[in-house]
Amino acid sequence: MSSLLPGRRARNGTAALAVLLLMSLANRAAGNGAGADAHPALVPLPTSVQWRAGEFTLDAAVTVQADAGLEGAADAVRLLLGPATGFPFAAAAADAAVRITRDDALGPEAYTLRVTVDGIDIGASTETGAFYAAQTLRQLLPADIYSRQPVERTWRVPHVEISDAPRFGWRGMHLDVGRHFMPVEFVKKFIDAIAAHKFNSFHWHLTEDQGWRIEIKRYPKLTEVGAMRARTVVGLSFGGGKDAEYDGVPHGGYYTQDEIREVVAYAARRHVNIVPEIEFPGHAQAAIAAYPELGNTGRRLKVKEEWGINENTLKPSDETIAFYHNVLAEVIELFPSRYIHIGGDEAPKTQWEQSEFAQQRMRELGLADEHALQSWMIRQMDAFLTAHGRRLVGWDEIMQGGLSDNATVMSWRGMRPGEKAAALGHDVVMAPTFWTYFDYYQGDFDTEPPALPFYVPLRQVYAFDPIPRNLPERFHAHILGGQAQLWTELMKTPEHVEYMAFPRAAALAEVLWSPAGTRDYTGFVQRLKGHLPRLDVLGVNYRPPGNDELGFTGRIKAAILKLGMRLYFWRQGA
Ligand code: ACM
Repeated sequence: MSSLLPGRRARNGTAALAVLLLMSLANRAAGNGAGADAHPALVPLPTSVQWRAGEFTLDAAVTVQADAGLEGAADAVRLLLGPATGFPFAAAAADAAVRITRDDALGPEAYTLRVTVDGIDIGASTETGAFYAAQTLRQLLPADIYSRQPVERTWRVPHVEISDAPRFGWRGMHLDVGRHFMPVEFVKKFIDAIAAHKFNSFHWHLTEDQGWRIEIKRYPKLTEVGAMRARTVVGLSFGGGKDAEYDGVPHGGYYTQDEIREVVAYAARRHVNIVPEIEFPGHAQAAIAAYPELGNTGRRLKVKEEWGINENTLKPSDETIAFYHNVLAEVIELFPSRYIHIGGDEAPKTQWEQSEFAQQRMRELGLADEHALQSWMIRQMDAFLTAHGRRLVGWDEIMQGGLSDNATVMSWRGMRPGEKAAALGHDVVMAPTFWTYFDYYQGDFDTEPPALPFYVPLRQVYAFDPIPRNLPERFHAHILGGQAQLWTELMKTPEHVEYMAFPRAAALAEVLWSPAGTRDYTGFVQRLKGHLPRLDVLGVNYRPPGNDELGFTGRIKAAILKLGMRLYFWRQGA
């Protein structure tokens, strides 16, 4: 569409009017994503985009100038544009081509970006806002800009005026490294890829029944014993049992505290906060394998070799509470995140029902049932985190038996738990299975790589809205945002994780960033055509979009499975 515009002066009023009309249509179309053929594909779509005629060319002489307080934004320009161009983007006190100006009228993650014949103007109130401007600027350049090595070419940026701000403040991606350990280099690559989509939260699921992945100095056996399992059940066989098949291959790995610090710093430079998760009081068998006194039965347990919900929960003793306070003390030293995730999901109450110790504890504490006992345990974690200036976040089962005062709820069993928590005045992150579980199939069950047997195709993710339809407006501010989950029972490699994550993460990025009113799936799919070459350059093994319809029997199967899951959540009171 820009070919209609360059430098042609309209000779009379009618022609001028026609040109203006075309320009306005072109801008509107671009704003809706339909103009992707003519303009760089912006994902997530900014709030407002006005394309102009002309281009600005970056070269080695281009310098960067930043207002006081935004010096780190010049670093962001170097970080995002330096490797591919090979240009230094040297700092300049005046007359720079890239100017980063403080605009305190903008929100903390908002920015303006203007490219004209005079260069590039970025406005932001924080370095985070300026970082997002630099991410958008990167999308204005050819896909080669995502290369980690210099590429010999001309770097032209189209003239444009953008003003932009996110719809939600929590834009998260989760990764389970408990079921399958993922190396540090991949975790960094994943953070790069999500930051490129303006996600600002990485939920690092660090402990599981099947593996403990974070070094805790005070309790070395957590990783000496808990980080390694002897073998893994083949496929999705949950219970094990005598017919289960095992691979016979030991699997393990963990992050040293130095590595954790390195990843936290890496993420911070990309304006991604890492929310660590330490599972409690369920999904903790690896910890019990390392320290059997944490368990209810006193039996020695293996690091778990099968998947599924596990009745081996933590013993509700003062010693367990003290142990986990000590673990959290090291966790908060490593992670500056305001939010610390303590799990709370899928903790069966069977062992507490059968344990004389647990029953005695409930009597001592005057607790009505085992749900109240779990709530009491979660409150002990909340008190510790709150006293240390942090906030507890947990999966929505933490509402059972009474929600702890300062808790933020991550709603995974659909939208209802989050809706209830928000109406009680609690903050909520929406992570419902039906839209945001990226371990589910994104296409035909028979031809896709193995996945959990539910169906969340790209358009389903794009249709997600974190605000529950019936939630009164006065509670909307409690919905902090949303997050996608990558549970890795069946994902053994980084390549498989990437395949499940992208491009669904691009759809979620748009849900969480762009104004609700600009949502347009056709336009998004059109823009993906221009966006996916960037992921190619980044070396991300995404699933090519399309071919994701189910056949008739597939649709019936998916509908029955979904109904079954809804019923299961409903029976749990979710
Ligand atoms: C979960 O999927 N158990 C949070």
